[in-house]
Amino acid sequence: MVTSGIEKKFSKELINWYLRNKRELPWRETVDPYPIWLSEIILQQTRVQQGLPYYFSFLKHFPTVNDLANASEKQILSLWQGLGYYSRARNLHKTAQLVVSDYAGSFPDTYINLLKLKGVGPYTAAAIASFAFKEQVAVVDGNVYRVLTRIFGIYEDITLNTTKKVIAELAQKLVPQKLPDIYNQAIMEFGAMHCTPANPNCSTCPFARSCVANAAGDQKILPIKTKAKAKQERFFNYFMVRCGDEVLMKERGSNDIWQGLFEFLLFETKKKTSFSGILKIVPLIPEKNIQAEYGPYKHILSHQILHATFYSVEVTKKQFAAIKKEYALEEVNIREITATPKPVLITKYLKAHKF
Ligand code: ADE
Repeated sequence: MVTSGIEKKFSKELINWYLRNKRELPWRETVDPYPIWLSEIILQQTRVQQGLPYYFSFLKHFPTVNDLANASEKQILSLWQGLGYYSRARNLHKTAQLVVSDYAGSFPDTYINLLKLKGVGPYTAAAIASFAFKEQVAVVDGNVYRVLTRIFGIYEDITLNTTKKVIAELAQKLVPQKLPDIYNQAIMEFGAMHCTPANPNCSTCPFARSCVANAAGDQKILPIKTKAKAKQERFFNYFMVRCGDEVLMKERGSNDIWQGLFEFLLFETKKKTSFSGILKIVPLIPEKNIQAEYGPYKHILSHQILHATFYSVEVTKKQFAAIKKEYALEEVNIREITATPKPVLITKYLKAHKF
């Protein structure tokens, strides 16, 4: 890519700033993709200072990708302790094994091929490709969003795909052919240390005169990010009504996220309802038949938070038939319940109670 005047000037200023202000960090002293990859995965989980001991400890225990691939999952999870999100640690292990089995222990050396690795998305692929192989490809993370939206005055919502595309294209244009690795470290460091979210240091900023946000006083509002709508809270009261081995269930109807799935007799309430409160709305179920109350369990969906309380109820044949009729329920044998399609919430409850 041929870089034009403005882009060259921008990258030159940024690199100059970086060389004067950068932190000395161990993963910046290597071009080996293995420790670079390791550092990036750790830094997805935590901040630089907290990540450093993990970085050193992983490299000490597993100096090469072969060592990591041959480690036991238990060893990896134990070193990962404190970082949370254990699926990342498992992916780390799987990726190391894949690099050994499919790439003879050498990481792919291009952005496109790095993307094929598990747990390596556009950001990580760009980081490894540029830091290790000097490929002219832009890293785009939260720091880059902040720096570019402020300096170039991008006022569109960064959660929109159209805005993400505009920023990715701009970021790519700005990466210089020479020193793409240093440039990428520089823009992230500038975002992390100088053009910070709450207190950007505009008085000593090399871009102060050209920065749109600085001229408009919009540093605090950029980048613009619309907040996700608050999730709707719902309160479910489930009655697992049993008579011997038979359980009453109901299939969710159409126009429902759980269409076709079976659940127990459900009473939804506007707010959390006490045991005595709930008894009033289920006249067909006498209190003495309620054997146990479980929950409430919190279950988070993309747009809703469900709070589910489960009541385990044992009734007589006569009561069973009356409840079945009143609420248009179906009988499911307890031995068939595992094979019956159910919402995750119900499955979790059944598992927890050993059904
Ligand atoms: N955060 C993510 N990658 C980083 C890097 N290479 N240096 C500093 N902070 C980072």
